[in-house]
Amino acid sequence: MSDTAQIIVDGKSLELPVIEGSESEKAIDISKLRGSSGIITIDPGFKNTGSTQSAITFLDGEKGILRYRGYTIEELAEKSNFLEVSYLLIYGELPTTEQYNEFASSITNHTLVHEDVKKILEGFPSVAHPMGVLSSLVCAQTAFYPESLDPNRSHGDVDMSIIRLIAKMPTFAAWSYKNKIGQPVIYPDNKLNYTGNFLKMMFALPAEEYLADPVVADALDKLLILHADHEQNCSTATVRVVGSSHASMYASISAGINALWGPLHGGANQAVIEMLEGIKADGGDTKKWMAKAKDKNDPFRLMGFGHRVYKNFDPRAKIIKKAADDVLEKLGVNDPVLDIAKGLEEEALRDPYFVERKLYPNVDFYSGIIYRALGIPTDMFTVMFALGRLPGWIAQWKEMRENKEPIGRPRQVYTGANDRTYVPLNER
Ligand code: ACO
Repeated sequence: MSDTAQIIVDGKSLELPVIEGSESEKAIDISKLRGSSGIITIDPGFKNTGSTQSAITFLDGEKGILRYRGYTIEELAEKSNFLEVSYLLIYGELPTTEQYNEFASSITNHTLVHEDVKKILEGFPSVAHPMGVLSSLVCAQTAFYPESLDPNRSHGDVDMSIIRLIAKMPTFAAWSYKNKIGQPVIYPDNKLNYTGNFLKMMFALPAEEYLADPVVADALDKLLILHADHEQNCSTATVRVVGSSHASMYASISAGINALWGPLHGGANQAVIEMLEGIKADGGDTKKWMAKAKDKNDPFRLMGFGHRVYKNFDPRAKIIKKAADDVLEKLGVNDPVLDIAKGLEEEALRDPYFVERKLYPNVDFYSGIIYRALGIPTDMFTVMFALGRLPGWIAQWKEMRENKEPIGRPRQVYTGANDRTYVPLNER
């Protein structure tokens, strides 16, 4: 097999190296193309562009494979827990019992946030979307831990930022919700595990004895694992690009939260439920909405369908669909919105428009249904996604820094006006 590629531009032939990943995927290395030829490549949305070589997550969109550090998502979702998976993603190997205990106990010991965070929180109007609040609170940590501003400082400081971020995100997330509904915040309970503590901060009332239903806590833990990393998606690429300027980990993750917020990315889980509720309120005619999704003159898209890289099936959607059925059954929830979801899925899977374009339900199609069953309010869905994606963002930020990657700075093809002479205002 050739290990070079040739391109011919203006009759001149250029030879480019081809590199190969550990799963035999090939890439033409164009990093020296401009230097030797003055030519750049263009690829809006980076549909064919690899921005990095990464050892964290492998996914094969055609075969529906997703692995973190070589372990399949199916096995991790079944046998592991979120903190163990976080350790795996960030440090590259599954922890020993001793490493796990130390990691988990450090996280438990840093769940409390500075009291002044409450003052920042109280400054937000009650209509504030929790994603905006979350990204603000994460970025505000640079003020409480100014040593984090210099990511070159020492490994110890970076490790501390990692622990603090994983420990405090559930506190920020739950507090943003409490603030929104006008209830006093609930302080972290270090006797509880990661998801049990989060659920208590979300749902307990002051001085109330609260213990989360283990079915709910386990389902949530599984959802966090499924969302923990997904290689170079929109928010992760954002984290790496922001971090490539040597911005702090808090600033980089805060930027990732904002990128995740949009409905074409993590915000889809909220958009899916709102869409399903809208269809239900409109009489539940799924055929009408399928037709709208296919109509090119109608901006409506079937939220939760389609994926940039999965063109066969999203393995996370498979696990989630089963988990949704289990949770609804165990909690005895009968959700009419689920029937609409199932109806839409069945129709889409046999509709030529969706089949030809390889549009399948993605992870967000079913996650919203579970979140609803677990009692999580709709505008907190994307926050849940951010909680899950956090270790992936951290692992990718850390890898980018350790690989000493250059600042992310794309080129462009300019299409604007050519050189022209300025005309003073009074002469126009
Ligand atoms: N409903 C209807 N048509 C769709 C949908 C959809 N959900 N998704 C894609 N299409 C159509 C497009 O109109 C396009 O049709 P065309 O070839 O006739 O022009 C074709 O399928 C390809 O779509 P693109 O937008 O080019 O695909 P891309 O890879 O850029 O986008 C994306 C992927 C953003 C996920 C898209 O499928 C979408 O908008 N889905 C709905 C939002 C969603 O669920 N996002 C969550 C993604 S998962 C995640 O981020 C965790």
